[in-house]
Amino acid sequence: MTFRVEGVGKRYGSRTGTHWVLRDVDLEIGDGEIVTLVGPSGCGKSTLLAIVAGLTASDEGRVLRDGSPVTGPGPDRAVVFQSASLLPWRTAEGNVAYGMQLQRRESRQSIRARATAALRLVGLEQYGSYYPGQLSGGMQQRVNLARALAAEPALLLMDEPFGALDALTKERMQQELLRIVEPSGQAVLFITHDISEAVFLGDRVLVMGRSPGSVREVVEVPFARPRALEVQEDGTFQRLRHHIRRVLEDLEEDARGGARYGDHPLSGSTPGSVTR
Ligand SMILES: Nc1ncnc2c1ncn2[C@@H]1O[C@H](COP(=O)(O)OP(=O)(O)OP(=O)(O)O)[C@@H](O)[C@H]1O
Ligand SMILES: [Mg+2]
Repeated sequence: MTFRVEGVGKRYGSRTGTHWVLRDVDLEIGDGEIVTLVGPSGCGKSTLLAIVAGLTASDEGRVLRDGSPVTGPGPDRAVVFQSASLLPWRTAEGNVAYGMQLQRRESRQSIRARATAALRLVGLEQYGSYYPGQLSGGMQQRVNLARALAAEPALLLMDEPFGALDALTKERMQQELLRIVEPSGQAVLFITHDISEAVFLGDRVLVMGRSPGSVREVVEVPFARPRALEVQEDGTFQRLRHHIRRVLEDLEEDARGGARYGDHPLSGSTPGSVTR
């Protein structure tokens, strides 16, 4: 399944007039691809994710799934937010099963089997009967991921899912994510503030700028997946990281200086080709 975002724009009205949060956003996520998204706070990353999820309507452009417009949420897409927000009165398994139970499309038995399988994927098969309060933050976030995986979506939409985790747990979750999506061929759109995380996980890193938010640069990541943590010590990895940092800093400087994106020396550059 291929997801395409074409010319998407989103505006919000306020007392001072209309404000375009997103403008001319284009991106494509193919089967099994991981696309990561970095950009300054407030540039519209979560808004874009919500539009792809079908939770928010765009004011311009469209989202296509295999060529057909996406008009609302669907089982082909699942969202994972930063906070696990599990139901405290339901067990881990009960939380994973909850969405499927609401949809009432399957028997209790088959829902149970799917929930167990999803918990196994995230390494929590022993913890199905635990309540969220009995699980660590990292384990809760795994249950959250299992909840999204249970529906076997073609596209996982992840909004800073590991942002609240400690460094080691975060690394483990990153590797698990790569391990989990590899055989399933699931595609991922992953928002993060962490440039290393963006490069480590992504086949492509999209760098967004703000006012209005749009994709200003696409950086291809040449490493095969799944990746070992050691890849982060590779010279190419370091160069990509520095390059993305530089682009973000330049974009922010421009935003502060009031210059328009079109005036920027990086504009019009071939994606990933900027060398300095
Ligand atoms: N319902 C809304 N009404 C008005 N403005 C909104 C609404 N939702 C979001 N915005 C505005 O849209 C802009 C983008 O918000 P969004 O949450 O998408 O940013 P973000 O890139 O995810 O930021 P962060 O990195 O801090 O999570 C912000 O300026 C925000 O104030
Ligand atoms: Mg956000």
